[in-house]
Amino acid sequence: MKSIVVLISGRGSNMTAIAQALRDERWSARIACVIADRPAAAGLDRASEYGAATEVVDFRAFDTRAAFEDALASAIDRHAPDLVVLAGFMRILGDGFVERYTDRMLNIHPSLLPAFPGLHTHRRALEAGVAVHGATVHLVGRELDMGPIVAQAALAVRPDDDEERLASRVLALEHRLYPMAVRWFVEGRLLLEGERVVLREPRPGETRCLWAG
Ligand code: GRF
Repeated sequence: MKSIVVLISGRGSNMTAIAQALRDERWSARIACVIADRPAAAGLDRASEYGAATEVVDFRAFDTRAAFEDALASAIDRHAPDLVVLAGFMRILGDGFVERYTDRMLNIHPSLLPAFPGLHTHRRALEAGVAVHGATVHLVGRELDMGPIVAQAALAVRPDDDEERLASRVLALEHRLYPMAVRWFVEGRLLLEGERVVLREPRPGETRCLWAG
């Protein structure tokens, strides 16, 4: 049984999608703890509804990023997780923290990386006039929103998409993409070859690209 710690900052809809898939599909895994960096994170209540333990490591209680990350790492390590899942965790992580969880920390980013790392991805995608947009699950590397790509979900941008509509269409895709990628990790089917991720023994219909058209 694999143990997962999920880090959130906000509503936690991706965390909920993962918890639901884990339950429905009876993964050999459990969410040992959901940790938020702020007490007001709405996802904490959702986590409790799924029976997950919750903790808060409030970033405002620390003077430096290093002190915050030390406390966060201690909270995570108490659960000895096989996997750390960043699900809308809105902090830039230092090298030491990233290295501690090398090859066992996943993130979801709402763009087709390497395009549009950082914030306001949907607005920037519309401004750039892209025809295709989406989301990426990747192993966390040292650079912000970078690291070996596990899977991507893409959709065609519609003429009537505004920032809000595009965000909600991408989010619906994220809720399919992230559970799929976490499940592959839990099943031990993600292989790192250099900087590239390979999905071992793909089953019929399984693909690293979800395409919503
Ligand atoms: C998602 O769009 C995710 O891609 C980004 O932050 C948002 C988190 O949403 N990193 P939620 O908290 O999972 O609902």
